[in-house]
Amino acid sequence: MKKTVAIDGPAGAGKSTVAKLAAKKLGYIYIDTGAMYRAAAWKMLESGAEPTDENIVGVAEKLDVSLRFAGDSVRVFADDTDVTEAIRTPEVTALVSKVAQIGPVRTKMVQLQRKMAKDGGVVMDGRDIASNVLPNADVKIYLTASIEERALRRWKEMKAKGYEEPMEALKDEIAARDKADSERSISPLVRVPEATLLDTTGMTIEEVVRTVMELCGEGQ
Ligand code: CDP
Repeated sequence: MKKTVAIDGPAGAGKSTVAKLAAKKLGYIYIDTGAMYRAAAWKMLESGAEPTDENIVGVAEKLDVSLRFAGDSVRVFADDTDVTEAIRTPEVTALVSKVAQIGPVRTKMVQLQRKMAKDGGVVMDGRDIASNVLPNADVKIYLTASIEERALRRWKEMKAKGYEEPMEALKDEIAARDKADSERSISPLVRVPEATLLDTTGMTIEEVVRTVMELCGEGQ
């Protein structure tokens, strides 16, 4: 039977890398819910208007966010624009947690996420997947790592994309986002008691993927 796998955790824990690889091995679809909130933040910035709560709701209401799957790759679309790369800029990252705190934005995204997962066979990552989006998920994992390691991973990822951000600034940005995501009133980042805690500090990607596969009942 095709399962639903929920992976939650703080910024830079490696959720998307691991979720993508695990989904591929399982023959499942990978759903990056952070990308959907990022697409809304991108659209807000693109409009040029002040990102007030009211304006964000206005933009999000009209926006059609979609994940389009082609073989192994997933492209993120905001209306008809492919924003897969554009949603990873520091500007979008700086705005996304504000966008993700707004009730009507979350309601819209969560509805879409549940629809995509309704037939199972998905690995979904985010902040509120086990606690809110898919409370009946078959496998629930809380993926984390030390803040130093998460900042270092993010630094390497951004450098590969041509952005040289000072390590301290990245650490501050991650800590601020963790705080905003954990303390917001609607669907904050939490580790539900039944989720398996996977601290990936010092682990290689392969080791983490292997552990995730075992938790999914698929030893390699
Ligand atoms: O930077 P990273 O890849 O760790 O984050 P992301 O998964 O792209 O998510 C970006 C932001 O979207 C998070 O910091 C949260 O504010 C928000 N988010 C959320 O609120 N709920 C989710 N299910 C996924 C992301």
